[in-house]
Amino acid sequence: MNTQTEQSVWVQAVSYEELALNTGKTIRYQDVEVALFKLQSGKLHAIQNRCPHKQGVLAEGIVCDEHVFCPMHDRKIHLPSGEVQKPDTGCVQTYETKIQEGYVYIAFPTAREIAS
Ligand code: FES
Repeated sequence: MNTQTEQSVWVQAVSYEELALNTGKTIRYQDVEVALFKLQSGKLHAIQNRCPHKQGVLAEGIVCDEHVFCPMHDRKIHLPSGEVQKPDTGCVQTYETKIQEGYVYIAFPTAREIAS
């Protein structure tokens, strides 16, 4: 079930209970691909699934505390902000998440936003 808001659409991604801790999961909606993480604390984070360096798949990265390490060249990305940690630079898009009736929802941009 998807619920549209003015600027985004909430897309049902996966059951919260079935989502493994500290393991990325790739979620796709239209042309957007997101890496979804459930941390040890139970917090959820959703970020763009491609590393800004050379497009490494971040859902396949190693999670440590609130960071994911890109599987290709080990850049460290802060999950809440999407910022690549020093000495490297860059940033990935972050997406809002919510839990509703046991399911994780991700706020994907609408088609109009994607096109602009
Ligand atoms: S592609 Fe991610 S660090 Fe190089």
